[in-house]
Amino acid sequence: MSDGLIVVFGGTGFLGRAIIRELAEAGRRVRIAARHPVLPDWASEDDRLELATADVRDEASIIAALAGASAVVNAVSLYVERGRLDFDTIHVQAAARLARLARQANIDNLIHISGIGVDSESPSAYIRARARGESQVITAFPKAVLLRPSVLFGPNDAFLTSLASLSRLPVIPLFGRGRTRLQPVHVIDVARAVTRLLGGHPPAWRLYELGGGEIEDYRNLLEQVLAHLHRPCRLMPVPFPIWRGLATVTARLPNAPLTHDQIILMQHDNVVGEHVGTFSELGIDPRTLRESLPECLPRR
Ligand SMILES: NC(=O)c1ccc[n+]([C@@H]2O[C@H](COP(=O)([O-])OP(=O)(O)OC[C@H]3O[C@@H](n4cnc5c(N)ncnc54)[C@H](OP(=O)(O)O)[C@@H]3O)[C@@H](O)[C@H]2O)c1
Repeated sequence: MSDGLIVVFGGTGFLGRAIIRELAEAGRRVRIAARHPVLPDWASEDDRLELATADVRDEASIIAALAGASAVVNAVSLYVERGRLDFDTIHVQAAARLARLARQANIDNLIHISGIGVDSESPSAYIRARARGESQVITAFPKAVLLRPSVLFGPNDAFLTSLASLSRLPVIPLFGRGRTRLQPVHVIDVARAVTRLLGGHPPAWRLYELGGGEIEDYRNLLEQVLAHLHRPCRLMPVPFPIWRGLATVTARLPNAPLTHDQIILMQHDNVVGEHVGTFSELGIDPRTLRESLPECLPRR
């Protein structure tokens, strides 16, 4: 196994934190790079963790964060555009910048985290930016591995937390008829995949799509969560044009609770495709949401 330094950009985020923990548990030397990096609360002196303050928009801070590294993971995210902070800046320009600087620094491995469903023709600016970002990363660092997870879940996640908060409503509105299929994946399984990919063996694929152990439609997932919480609720189909109208209003609010990009994402199945690497090539048997609910969403 290689023992080089691994720099995780976005190492304080939901996925980044899980990656840091898996790498640390595997005994790897890790640098957590973010604008506001902090050591995880579980870290002990035995963990070989260090911090780098870096902004992926700032070349000098990236170069400093990459010093001495043998591998890099880009787990930086931006889900909602705010002022000058837009999808192109983070998902295209910054992703390409990081890949180019990693190549110039002679770094061996780059894992670029993206998401299932990227499509350069999508009506969603977010999905189009992710597609352009992937292609520019490969141009700048041809040996990069693209890793596209489906929607992530885990303790204190955004996905289950938002489904659980819906359970307080007397009637829960569905996206359309709730028939969009998702393959939610445990954040730790994705973090394990990253750790395996950085384990020293050359990856079998350049592109991996990572989905959990079960494909379910949105309605069934919601019903699983409601049954787990013992909160029976009525589900009400709401046509997508109504959601689009709502998003036009809510997108202007400060912390936009609903955006056009989210509506577009919910109109397309988000499941692992064909001709891509998957968990099985990495020797990982991914958990299902169903079996993980007691661990991830304790009943209060
Ligand atoms: N969550 C999901 O369900 C899901 C599903 C599929 C794919 N993904 C992908 O997985 C990746 C990680 O997502 P996540 O949900 O873990 O994100 P997250 O929790 O929002 O974390 C984002 C991380 O990026 C860092 N960051 C943001 N802007 C930065 C900048 N300008 N420079 C440097 N660091 C910056 C943040 O730290 P600072 O704020 O301190 O900089 C934080 O560490 C993303 O590519 C996302 O698209 C996520």
